[in-house]
Amino acid sequence: MLTPDKVFRPGKLPINPGNVYANRGESENEFKKSLRRGFIPLVFGEYGVGKTSMARHIVKSNYDEDKLVNVESVADKDISDVISQCLEKIGYSVERKKTDHNSETRSLEQGAEASIGIDWIKAKIFSKRANSSTQGGTVESEFIVKSPTDSKVIELCEDNGIILILDELHRATDSFLDDLVKFIKAYGNSNCDNFKIILLGTSSDPSKLVQKDPGIDRLIEDLHLKSMDDDERQQLVSSGMNDLAIAISDEALRKLVSVCVGSPNILQYLCLESSEAAFEREPRNLELADVNDAVEEYVKKKESRLYRTYMQAVENQGAKRYRKQILRAMSEIEDEYVTMEQIRSKVESYLDVEVRAQDLSGSLRKLKETQYGPVLRDIEKNDGSGTIQNYTTFIDPALKAFIRMQVLREGNG
Ligand SMILES: Nc1ncnc2c1ncn2[C@@H]1O[C@H](COP(=O)(O)OP(=O)(O)OP(=O)(O)O)[C@@H](O)[C@H]1O
Ligand SMILES: [Mg+2]
Repeated sequence: MLTPDKVFRPGKLPINPGNVYANRGESENEFKKSLRRGFIPLVFGEYGVGKTSMARHIVKSNYDEDKLVNVESVADKDISDVISQCLEKIGYSVERKKTDHNSETRSLEQGAEASIGIDWIKAKIFSKRANSSTQGGTVESEFIVKSPTDSKVIELCEDNGIILILDELHRATDSFLDDLVKFIKAYGNSNCDNFKIILLGTSSDPSKLVQKDPGIDRLIEDLHLKSMDDDERQQLVSSGMNDLAIAISDEALRKLVSVCVGSPNILQYLCLESSEAAFEREPRNLELADVNDAVEEYVKKKESRLYRTYMQAVENQGAKRYRKQILRAMSEIEDEYVTMEQIRSKVESYLDVEVRAQDLSGSLRKLKETQYGPVLRDIEKNDGSGTIQNYTTFIDPALKAFIRMQVLREGNG
């Protein structure tokens, strides 16, 4: 029997039977088109906006999932890990040998020798008849990979229709990105049809990758996944409740759709919480009160840390409550990196009086200080040589959706 926790899955990927999945409309179509045409989609967007869910869902429903090589996070990985995973998926057994290049020699030589490439990978495939153990089998073919551009690897991935997802690209090290660029170039030169690559990360990634080599620009298609729109949210709620034979009142539906402010994870949580209450009833009616209870539960229990952070950031304010206005503006602007001018014009629209940048600069600075969090920070340059003037971002990206929701709660009393 379907139960609420089988349908609504906050924090989990909605890819199992019974899980409710909301179609992501145009973004989803673009993503599919990009893959079909042999481009490399680079899906970026706010924390928790549904990048991984969308990619995994599409792969599952349009491709052979047995061919999926899913690198859940590229943090602390190097390209040889990725290549090994691909080869293992194809059926090779892989031996790794560390070469003596390391990050120190790399930086000393200023990248001149960096192209010696990756750790050695010895890949062996055994004949199918002798599959009892890797040691006992007869080696059918064997080769050594020494560089990220090895065409044999790409050829094999192509022949086997590998689908490679590299997730959390924003956590990649610089040397990973260097090697990835080379790998992608080699991929581009091999004219692949069946080997697909999918990149997932945040908004800072596209420029970072392309900066390393403009030549890969024509292979990569940036795809900005924005927060869930009203239709997508409604679809998620309605189809989930329908699957659970729960009748939801219009008011309750409207509240769920608005209060999650586009964060699918919050919406999933609120749906799970409120549907569990309704599921026990006879008949199964979900009312506004259930949603309100769920919201309270979410804020006080689940996100008490974010709640405290937010309250500390906005306490003891002046008459204009600039700190609060700035945080609201930051949370409602879709871009990850926000300029003073964007903040200023938002705050002006809230207060309905003229607001100048210098009115806000003091409060903005405070939000970057310990006393008030800090909750915001400047942006570091890619090369580590200081900060980029005039841009601000959240330190904890989870705070963004939380503040959007909090503003709505306060507004509704
Ligand atoms: N299309 C969708 N339909 C239903 N639920 C979704 C959908 N997309 C996301 N979710 C819900 O939102 C949660 C967060 O989604 P996901 O992990 O895919 O986001 P993300 O953008 O990859 O996040 P991160 O920035 O942390 O990598 C999921 O655990 C799932 O519960
Ligand atoms: Mg993700």
